Amino acid sequence: MGIKSGFTFWNLVFLLTVSCVKGFIYTCGGTLKGLNGTIESPGFPYGYPNGANCTWVIIAEERNRIQIVFQSFALEEEYDYLSLYDGHPHPTNFRTRLTGFHLPPPVTSTKSVFSLRLTSDFAVSAHGFKVYYEELQSSSCGNPGVPPKGVLYGTRFDVGDKIRYSCVTGYILDGHPQLTCIANSVNTASWDFPVPICRAEDACGGTMRGSSGIISSPSFPNEYHNNADCTWTIVAEPGDTISLIFTDFQMEEKYDYLEIEGSEPPTIWLSGMNIPPPIISNKNWLRLHFVTDSNHRYRGFSAPYQGMFNEFLCLF
Ligand SMILES: *[C@@H]1O[C@H](CO)[C@@H](O)[C@H](O)[C@H]1NC(C)=O
Ligand SMILES: *[C@@H]1O[C@H](CO)[C@@H](O)[C@H](O)[C@H]1NC(C)=O
Repeated sequence: MGIKSGFTFWNLVFLLTVSCVKGFIYTCGGTLKGLNGTIESPGFPYGYPNGANCTWVIIAEERNRIQIVFQSFALEEEYDYLSLYDGHPHPTNFRTRLTGFHLPPPVTSTKSVFSLRLTSDFAVSAHGFKVYYEELQSSSCGNPGVPPKGVLYGTRFDVGDKIRYSCVTGYILDGHPQLTCIANSVNTASWDFPVPICRAEDACGGTMRGSSGIISSPSFPNEYHNNADCTWTIVAEPGDTISLIFTDFQMEEKYDYLEIEGSEPPTIWLSGMNIPPPIISNKNWLRLHFVTDSNHRYRGFSAPYQGMFNEFLCLF
């Protein structure tokens, strides 16, 4: 008798627990069709619910692609995420996971379906996000976005179109000042250079995030300064590796050098006048340390980098 009622009690507790947990999951989202529109997290801008699991699937016409441009972004860092899928929301289509308070750059799908999934934990919320989506014709590269402190000239993004970049006063452009939209294959178009970044005139070094960019010595392609000591860290998504390919390399042999950590061997020391071979990271980071002595100056170095996504890694 006692045992029997004990079972009943625990059965009841179990049932209550299940229904409570179920009650806390907040689902939302939907399927979106049409040339353009906006998606907002529930409650935007007053905060999204806890325990959210909301999936939006954007479906374009066959052969077209989808571009999303963030207009606002604030998610509790490292606890609440917006996952992007290049296709239906399936782990094999997983592209990246966004969190925190920085406005992410525009993202373009490679196919005619693109999905977003918001998942939040059970405490603390933030404003949420608002994103504009647009169907791209197969001949359009889409808007590549404006880097912080940058200025973009040009409003058309079709094959053959060029756009130019500059930076606001006090900042200089790292990377190529002009992008050209090119036809990559039958039904995709893409920019032939990664979007440049703007950095403070006197600054060197810093943390570079994102899938691609260029790192160059201070003042490149002009001569670097004496007594420079710059450290750059490139951080890619977990599971990605980074490749760094030198396009220019001129340094005073032995006295000015670039030290690279995070590949094989663990520390690589580069100097002199020859372009070094490409470098590939072991994990999702690389660190570059550029040091010059008090005399002799050269052009320095320039090296585009690119994150390489390991699509077989399970990130969940
Ligand atoms: C969709 O595009 C049209 C034409 O460019 C524009 O007038 C409209 O405001 C856009 N819709 C949204 C939701 O931004
Ligand atoms: C969110 O919902 C989807 C589909 O309903 C499910 O597959 C996924 O596991 C859920 N994610 C979380 C974190 O609960």
